[in-house]
Amino acid sequence: MTSGPGDPQIVPISPVFGAEIHGVDLASGIDDETFRLVHQAWLEHGVVAFRDQSPLTADAQVEFALRIGPLHTHPAAPAEHANAAVFVIRTHRDSSISNGNGWHSDVSCDEEPPSATMLQIQLLPHCGGGDTLFADMEAAYATLPATTRERLCGLSAIHASAHVYPGRYADRSDGEEALATPSAVHPVVRTHPETGRRSLFVNPSFTVAIDGMDSAEGGELLTELHEHCTRPEFQIRHRWQPYDVLLWDNRRVQHFAIWDYWPNERSGHRVTVQGTRPFFDPEGPEPDESPLRLSIGRLA
Ligand code: SIN
Repeated sequence: MTSGPGDPQIVPISPVFGAEIHGVDLASGIDDETFRLVHQAWLEHGVVAFRDQSPLTADAQVEFALRIGPLHTHPAAPAEHANAAVFVIRTHRDSSISNGNGWHSDVSCDEEPPSATMLQIQLLPHCGGGDTLFADMEAAYATLPATTRERLCGLSAIHASAHVYPGRYADRSDGEEALATPSAVHPVVRTHPETGRRSLFVNPSFTVAIDGMDSAEGGELLTELHEHCTRPEFQIRHRWQPYDVLLWDNRRVQHFAIWDYWPNERSGHRVTVQGTRPFFDPEGPEPDESPLRLSIGRLA
């Protein structure tokens, strides 16, 4: 039986972003009206967590993601699933790295990075942990002083992967082809192609330099931005329940998958949707004043 209209209950989990969705059974399939509500909630909240799910087949996960748009193929990760669109997320006792264990927006080094990522964790670590953190880059942008925002709106940054992918994927490739390590120049402030809202689009995993700025000055600015972007006021933390499904918007949020469960195992399936080239619209609206009151890092 498919989930029908009127079923989803969308419950915000912080005043800033993120929501849980109850009353939708993704494994049974969802009708068009339910998909429309879910899609709207995803755009509105940036991250949605489907609770009370059962295991999704690869086909069901791919079918859902295809309703958002054509799929994105990871440039470097080897296909480890019979369905090539599925990226296997798996960390265990012998892993030397764990996917997503650092702040990033998925594959921001691509010219056209993914819009949506859909992840189901199917095996949770026995010891607990393995949470995923998210940070809202719209809030990060909106809380900067107007003069800083104005300065950043004219800048672009270089997103690279040559320092990331070989260490992660070289041992998993067949060695016959050189590992792809794309890089791209993207605006530091991007306009969301569907909501028109502005957000900061730099992250400490892929963003290596400010275009046209010397490395000391650019490095200092990036360090300040990364510190700002990962403030707790902009964060939510997803504590996984078995078979939860997360859907996040890489055009708006960064995420960090915590590896605090070694030597236990955690695994699941990820599918990403192809995005468009990030852009900045100088005519677009500035955000309303943020209600967030940022601490200055010490007790008053
Ligand atoms: C990722 O960065 O896609 C992995 C996220 C996670 O495993 O929670």
